Amino acid sequence: MKRDFIHITDFSSDEIQEIFELTAKMKTLVKAGREYAPLKGKNMAMIFAKPSARTRISFETGMSQLGGHAIYLSPDDIGIGKREAVKDIARVISRYDEIIMARLFDHAHMLELAEFATVPVINGLTDLNHPCQVMADIFTVLEHRKHLNDLKVAFVGDGNNVANSWINLAARLPLHFMLASPSGYDPDETILKNARSAGISRIEIVRDPVEAVTDADVIYTDVWASMGQEVEAEKRRRDFLPFQVNGELIRHARKDVLIMHCLPAHRGDEITDEVIDGPNSIVFDEAENRMHVQKAIIVKLLK
Ligand code: CP
Ligand code: NVA
Repeated sequence: MKRDFIHITDFSSDEIQEIFELTAKMKTLVKAGREYAPLKGKNMAMIFAKPSARTRISFETGMSQLGGHAIYLSPDDIGIGKREAVKDIARVISRYDEIIMARLFDHAHMLELAEFATVPVINGLTDLNHPCQVMADIFTVLEHRKHLNDLKVAFVGDGNNVANSWINLAARLPLHFMLASPSGYDPDETILKNARSAGISRIEIVRDPVEAVTDADVIYTDVWASMGQEVEAEKRRRDFLPFQVNGELIRHARKDVLIMHCLPAHRGDEITDEVIDGPNSIVFDEAENRMHVQKAIIVKLLK
């Protein structure tokens, strides 16, 4: 039966481990300039209903390194759910290509795409979650820390799609995840409830960013207004101002705290230049690992 990757919880803890082992192997090969191209003749359709830099470049380059090919479909090309029904495009692409990656607004459209496609579907972000991002994030933490024992992740900012994927991750790997967000910007309730009942992680929501960053191993932030929320940007800027990740805030953290951001960053809003360009920042390792981890996810789904 075909497998999709729509939520981190679609994989078991063992499968996540297996993906990271494959990621590490493939990353070493790329760094050594050695070819690993098991996907010769395979094509991926990439549907983008929202803009992207990292997701497009990392999937397209990754497919090419694997010996396959990726087709970029811009927001103007398909008009998924508007010009054409989601289930029709799912069935059409399944007749041409071996795998689909999609970045959509509505998570229900992602689920419908996966239901009607007869080939694997990978979620490259919806309004609800961003699973490839957080798989790359935790792989990056492991590269820097070697283990997850007692890992405290302080997510400072919006309880958004990226935060939701972190909470999904906490249902598969043991973490102490503390989100500091203003009231009214909490993560998805169902995701939170399910992750808490998985019972392997401590997941807390607080209103004080200093409380979150104290003793944190990782400080993570993301934009205050996500794609599609542009009209709320001014109100959000006012609400989130006390949650800026700046030099003063990180003074309360451990000296070796890792600073992470999925990018693109709105420098001067959620994070200052001093912090994102500072010695603790691993944002570009994180961006690079999108490609390595996604290659392993593609290989796993196509095997
Ligand atoms: N982090 C991330 O998904 O970046 P893009 O929006 O540029 O793809
Ligand atoms: N939360 C952000 C993530 C971008 C990669 C957004 O959805 O715009």
